[in-house]
Amino acid sequence: MDSDPNTSPLAQARALPGAVRAGIDAGPRLAVRAARIGVARMRRAVGRAVARSPRSLFLRELVTQPGSVGAICASSPRLAARMASHVDPAATGLVVELGGGTGVITSALLARGVAPERLVVIEQSDALAALLARRFPQVTVIHGDAAELARWHVQGLLPPGADGAALAINFIVSGLPLLSIPLPVRQRILHAGAQALAPGGRLLQFTYALRGPSPWQSAGLARLHSERVIANLPPARVDVLGQG
Ligand SMILES: C[S@@+](CC[C@H](N)C(=O)[O-])C[C@H]1O[C@@H](n2cnc3c(N)ncnc32)[C@H](O)[C@@H]1O
Repeated sequence: MDSDPNTSPLAQARALPGAVRAGIDAGPRLAVRAARIGVARMRRAVGRAVARSPRSLFLRELVTQPGSVGAICASSPRLAARMASHVDPAATGLVVELGGGTGVITSALLARGVAPERLVVIEQSDALAALLARRFPQVTVIHGDAAELARWHVQGLLPPGADGAALAINFIVSGLPLLSIPLPVRQRILHAGAQALAPGGRLLQFTYALRGPSPWQSAGLARLHSERVIANLPPARVDVLGQG
C-alpha cells in the first residue's frame, strides 16, 4: 500500500516552523561534526602518547643528537640483562648508570634486585631524563653530564646512606657511546668514572667495537672480563673493568 505523501516524515518536517525544521536538518550535520571533533581529539591524544613513548623519544634524540646517542636503537633486553648480571644486588653502596637513555638497562638492574634507592641514573638529554624520572620514580635520575660524577660524589650530591654518610660507588654501568663522544669530553668522563669508582668496584661498559681495548683502560682501569652479546642490534661486547 502506498504511503500518504502528506504524512511521510519529510512532509511532516516541511510542515514544521522554520526554526524547528532547521534543528532537524542540522541533526545529521551536528553528529558528523561531533564525530570529526572526536576523531581529531583521539588523533591528538595518540600523537601525544607516541611523542612521549620511549621509542619515539629515542629516535628523536638520535636525529637531533646523533653523537650523544651513538646507537641506532636502544639496547636489547638481552644485552641489558648481561650488563646487569655483573652487578651484585646485595653489595652496599651505590650503583650508578651513565647514559640511561629510555631505561632498558635501568629496568634490568631493578629486575636483578638492585634497590631503587641505591640506583642513580645520569642522563644528559632533558627529554630522556624526564622520561626516566617518570618511568622510575623511586630511582634518583640526574639530568646532567656523566663527566661531573666524581665532583657530585665528592660534594655529597648523590643519595647518602641511612646514617647520612656518603655511599661508595661499587658499580658503574655505562651505556655511554664513548667512541662517538668528542675526545676532550670522553677524557673527562673516563677520568671522572675511574676516580669515582670505589676500590674493588666494577665498571661495566658495552661497546659495538667487538675487538680492541676499552677506552676505560686509558683511564687506568683493567679489563677483567669480556663477552659478546649477539642478540643486539648491532652485536655488542660487554666489558667488566676494575682497578685490577
Ligand atoms: C647509546 S644510548 C644508550 C641508552 C641506554 N643505556 C641503552 O642501552 O639503551 C647513550 C645514552 O647516553 C646519553 N649520553 C651521552 N653523553 C652523555 C653524557 N656526557 N652524560 C650523560 N648521558 C650521556 C645519551 O643521551 C643517550 O641516552
